[in-house]
Amino acid sequence: MLKPLFSLALAACSLAAPAQTLTIDAAKATADINPAMYGIFFEDINLAADGGLYAELLKNRSFDFPQPLTGWRPFGNVETDDTHPAYPRNPRYVRLINDGRRSGSGIENEGFRNGIGLKKDADYRFTATVRAAAPAKIRVEMIDSRNNNPMHRDIDIDGAEWHKITELLRAPFTDAHSTLRIFCLKGTVEMDHVSLMPTDTWRGRENGLRRDLAQALFDLQPGVMRFPGGCIVEGNTLASRYQWKNSVGPVENRPLNENRWNYGFKNHFYSDYFQSYGLGFFEFFQLCEDMGSEPLPVLSCGLACQFESKERVPVDSLQPFIDDALDLIEFANGPVTTKWGKLRADMGHAAPFGLKMIGIGNEQWGKVYPERLEPFIKAIRAKYPEMKIVGTSGPNAEGKEFDYLWPEMKRLGADLVDEHYYRSPEWFLSHANRYDNYDRKGPKVFAGEYACHDKKGGLANNWRSALYEAAFMTGIERNADVVRLATYAPLFAHVDGWQWKPDMIWYDNLRMTRTPNYYVQQLYAQNKGTGVLRTALADAPAHLYASAVEDSRTREIVVKVANATDTVQTVRVQVNGLKRRALDGGLCIYMQADDLATENSLDAETLVPRTRPVQAAGTEVQLALPKHFFGVVRLRTKAAK
Ligand code: AHR
Repeated sequence: MLKPLFSLALAACSLAAPAQTLTIDAAKATADINPAMYGIFFEDINLAADGGLYAELLKNRSFDFPQPLTGWRPFGNVETDDTHPAYPRNPRYVRLINDGRRSGSGIENEGFRNGIGLKKDADYRFTATVRAAAPAKIRVEMIDSRNNNPMHRDIDIDGAEWHKITELLRAPFTDAHSTLRIFCLKGTVEMDHVSLMPTDTWRGRENGLRRDLAQALFDLQPGVMRFPGGCIVEGNTLASRYQWKNSVGPVENRPLNENRWNYGFKNHFYSDYFQSYGLGFFEFFQLCEDMGSEPLPVLSCGLACQFESKERVPVDSLQPFIDDALDLIEFANGPVTTKWGKLRADMGHAAPFGLKMIGIGNEQWGKVYPERLEPFIKAIRAKYPEMKIVGTSGPNAEGKEFDYLWPEMKRLGADLVDEHYYRSPEWFLSHANRYDNYDRKGPKVFAGEYACHDKKGGLANNWRSALYEAAFMTGIERNADVVRLATYAPLFAHVDGWQWKPDMIWYDNLRMTRTPNYYVQQLYAQNKGTGVLRTALADAPAHLYASAVEDSRTREIVVKVANATDTVQTVRVQVNGLKRRALDGGLCIYMQADDLATENSLDAETLVPRTRPVQAAGTEVQLALPKHFFGVVRLRTKAAK
């Protein structure tokens, strides 16, 4: 007799609905699944780069914020200047003058939000570019949030030319709200690019990434990474758009840029969100390589953010923007004998990064977009015919602009069209069939930004939002022939510095938490399989969802089931077309919470995937799915007797 999965839950619940049948046709996959299908979308919003993934601990290390000492508390005799810069593209520097006053002269850095996170006994690399006309001395101190300064290091500064100093400092305490203080003990010292980085970065890189956050990305096994963002690609103004060429080369000389999201922080009015570009395009490509993800850079099409501005580059003046796209492809893939390929090699990566796709424009709309996209497409096709080009359908998932842009993308021959939907829970449940009748002859879909926005639930990353995304994604999976890429958005948020929620991963200066939404994405990415199998769910109630794939490498059938109803659902899974094979049991990796408001926090990840065995008989499996349940059932197959 076949035992149902979660039979205890079923027995405990008198509200079990009658069984329905999920029939899977395993004879032949109807479409291949793109190995890059499920991925991530990185944007420097919510302190995602500076103050987040990028491991730098000091804000305004280059003193080039509009108010030169933003992030720094000066005391005593401190000046800023830019007349003899160390780095021409970040010209300003600070001057600390010991003029004999008893209180001393110096600066303290406040970190990105409410201090700097330091861990006891961890090593930090303090570096600065300095000069002093006469022998001078500084003291560097680590100060905890109670103002104790148990650690200091004195450093002699000798040399009138700019030069770099490096000191390894070991933190004597753990404190998420520490301060770094620099005193001038003797003489006058000029300093620029003052940096403090943990040595324990992702892969130990000096200009590195915060290890825990990068690890969380790696663990998602993202097939693709879209970067450097959405609106920041466009900028509030064209001048402040993300310019990739400013994000490569020596890190000290990458010019600071105002972040398009330098507004909208709750309880944080003043303007201190800038992009150091320390995490730039080279680092993005490198991270993609680390994770085995396809890079998908997106560039400006010559329109500033259309929500903010009407600024646009005339179509006949787009050449510098088009050159940016062509040069980026050369930077990623070109031989080291080319200008941009050489820069990549000089930065430490002689081998090409293997770029296959490029996005032009983010959330554009109206005629102004296709008329700009067209010359990009012509130029890219002429020089790089293999490159896949991603266009956009605008900020909305339906409506006039969307209906205008899709045929335009088809006319222009875009390979993929980026769709965005931040929508209600009801929308997610009712749109699981969104792609069932999409045009199979046009461009493919890139579901480039989506998230379930549970406004009644405070836009939280709660189980309702994650479960409904999981339910919706069965529809993406069933239509994997037309939806070739999908990335949840946004990715990161600092608990003390966010403008937008929900987000996939939250963190403070020392800790991080993976949301239920993260785990749903991970379950899809880790169990994407290789080919779509046809499914039919007979007599199912509303809000019970399923899809199935085969994994040709392991000969498993992988079923996704989402029970978004309020009752236990029993499902008889019938796998047809196994030919001379039978089911051999397997595993169910699942997430479930009775309370749809359940969230994970920095203190505890209460909702994480769990695993149970599944039994099969012949070609059948019985499942009893508790309410509010999402599961991935991996069924082994064996030769039939
Ligand atoms: O993900 C946050 C923002 O949402 C993106 O920058 C933009 O593309 C969209 O409007």
